[in-house]
Amino acid sequence: MSSTIVAHSSQPDSLEQKIAALIARMSLADKIGQMCQVNPATDDPVAEFGDRLRAGRIGSVINLVDVRAINELQRIAVKESPQGIPLLIGRDVIHGFATVLPIPLGQAATWNPALVREASGAVARETAAAGVNWTFAPMIDICRDARWGRIAESFGEDPYLTSQLGVAMVRGFQGDDLSAPGSIAACVKHFVGYGASEGGRDYAATNIPENELRNAYLPPFKAALDAGAASLMTSFGDMDGVPATASDYLLRDILRDEWGFDGLVVSDWNAVEQLAAHGFTANRRESALAAARAGVDMEMTSDTYAEHLESLVAAGEISIELVDAAVANILRMKFRLGLFDRPCTDGTGVEPTARQRLLDLSREMATQSVVLLKNESTCLPLDAGEVRTLAVIGPLADAPQEQLGTWVFDGDAARSITPLAALRDISGGRIDVRHHRALVTSRSRDCAEFGDAAEVARDADAIVVFLGEESILSGEAHSRANIDLPGAQAELVHALAECGKPLIGVVLAGRPLTLGNVIDELDALLYAWHPGTMSGPAIADLLFGLASPSGRLPVTFPLDVGQIPIYYNHKNTGRPPESGTIVHIDDIDAGAPQTSFGMTSFYLDSGFRPRWPFGFGLGYTTFEYSDLDVCVRDAAIDISATLENTGRVRATEVAQLYVRDPVASVTRPVRELKGFQRVPLDPGESARIAFSLPTDDLAFHGRSGQRVLEAGEFHLWLGGSSEDGLNASFRLEG
Ligand code: GLC
Repeated sequence: MSSTIVAHSSQPDSLEQKIAALIARMSLADKIGQMCQVNPATDDPVAEFGDRLRAGRIGSVINLVDVRAINELQRIAVKESPQGIPLLIGRDVIHGFATVLPIPLGQAATWNPALVREASGAVARETAAAGVNWTFAPMIDICRDARWGRIAESFGEDPYLTSQLGVAMVRGFQGDDLSAPGSIAACVKHFVGYGASEGGRDYAATNIPENELRNAYLPPFKAALDAGAASLMTSFGDMDGVPATASDYLLRDILRDEWGFDGLVVSDWNAVEQLAAHGFTANRRESALAAARAGVDMEMTSDTYAEHLESLVAAGEISIELVDAAVANILRMKFRLGLFDRPCTDGTGVEPTARQRLLDLSREMATQSVVLLKNESTCLPLDAGEVRTLAVIGPLADAPQEQLGTWVFDGDAARSITPLAALRDISGGRIDVRHHRALVTSRSRDCAEFGDAAEVARDADAIVVFLGEESILSGEAHSRANIDLPGAQAELVHALAECGKPLIGVVLAGRPLTLGNVIDELDALLYAWHPGTMSGPAIADLLFGLASPSGRLPVTFPLDVGQIPIYYNHKNTGRPPESGTIVHIDDIDAGAPQTSFGMTSFYLDSGFRPRWPFGFGLGYTTFEYSDLDVCVRDAAIDISATLENTGRVRATEVAQLYVRDPVASVTRPVRELKGFQRVPLDPGESARIAFSLPTDDLAFHGRSGQRVLEAGEFHLWLGGSSEDGLNASFRLEG
């Protein structure tokens, strides 16, 4: 590990020379100060931190969004501290600041990196206007477990989709120039493997074999850092016995030595102090030593660096070169952010046109995020000319805060337009929209109001029942062992189904839910995740066909929670279920002798297939793929096909390209997403869609730990989900 600071360029005033010159002037105490991030405990951070800041003992403040207080702290840092180094002001702006976008899992369902990038840029400008210059996003943990509350923050189960969207969000936040007004620094997290927490239980241990780490969990981080992400946050997790926050293998061998990352590494909240709780260190001093040695440049909130680094350097347990390298990473980010030139914010806020643009982007993203999962006898879209009375049932139909989802510290619920409000508005009074909440919250078990709700439903031409989870039921530390609809929602669906009217379900949730106890009684189902501020207009447009659903699942929906982990890009095993006979538990003869049912990989009570696969989604039209053509060139494989809109309305298809390497030096997934594109088509219109798949994208980490590209046969599919599509094979020659 090179830890001494050397000038990287002979150019005058190069970034590295500025950093080296500043470090040369800093005392050890100044340096350690930069490595500390503090969290206000009072509502007067200037009084709380003023003296410590004047002494140069703070490098960053988290969770402060008062632009006046921020500007005063920046003034003190620049004018009154020994070295005049401005502060990093960090905040979790995960999917919006005051105006909230769909949760990242919903953003992933848009399969639209360009929209994610544009919307994240608009969010950055609103965030920067509050004085915040650093967001702790995108979260790019691969997640295959819907029990985990933080799946809501993720882009789902696939490395390629997560990589594309993580890069888009980084570029949106940071803009083309990180130092420009309106840009904020991204922080990719949580490095690494947090989404594999055992049992989907937050903060639980993760055990990920090297090959899986390299081929599934690391690629999104590599892509986001290659795209210029300014910083990275370590995971809370115990990674194969070494907490990520103390893993020099992750933070130095991979991140610095292999990947050449020169940005800032920050721990997660109190994660340094918690190394003792892991049983990895005996006390705070050892925790500070372990994290600093591993490569954590800045400690978030637990202050062990402030307490112990000076004595650790004095004792020779930590070298001054190691401290200098950490401080260089911090200063590099502050220079790149332009903080030395512009530490304060003008405080004028976001002008009205920008605020409206952000609302428009939030609405567009919410519309594209919704996935149509069922539509029996084309129950949807509703015909505004035929529906005179519409029953809108459920507590989530009119819940401005709940629709925002998790991680919305600064979300302004007053800006929310709820589905109920939008449905009343879209009908312009022509439709009698009648609402009954039926339940007080999504968790309520009190069915006392069901009778009245059924009365409302019985008198209507159609019923839209809003189901799902309040926002508090997903997010950090909110894992669920049972992912059915909470409370008495299933009973509500049963009661409404007896009214004999078209029954449309709209689910707002922060995760895939198991819907086996209601799906048969719903005539149609729109899955909206938590769509954010503009939930209402998006859902109303989709219900009445002003927009056609184009969302596709970024994560597999299990039939039962017991199937988890279940994901599309799984390994084939030596006994794939398709190769044998699948028997259902109810079909086993009484007194069945000890025998096999094909001896393959399935559940007696739940088979092996999910309820809905990765990439799946319906629309108000149909699409047909034809004339698949594959041409292998030296550096790429050119794939093309004709796509036709064979239905009656304009709609967007998400064409998905999957590949399989059926024989390789390590086993490879049965399918891997390698490309996708959104294709809007008018009824009857067709288009030739094309992908150029770089040969290098077929490489993988093999047994040697190196990335290898192996000759041989490959299979590919081009279609509308991970379970269908035109298929072909091609060969790569040695
Ligand atoms: C939390 C989360 C992390 C977040 C940080 C700051 O515990 O794990 O994602 O950025 O603390 O709020």
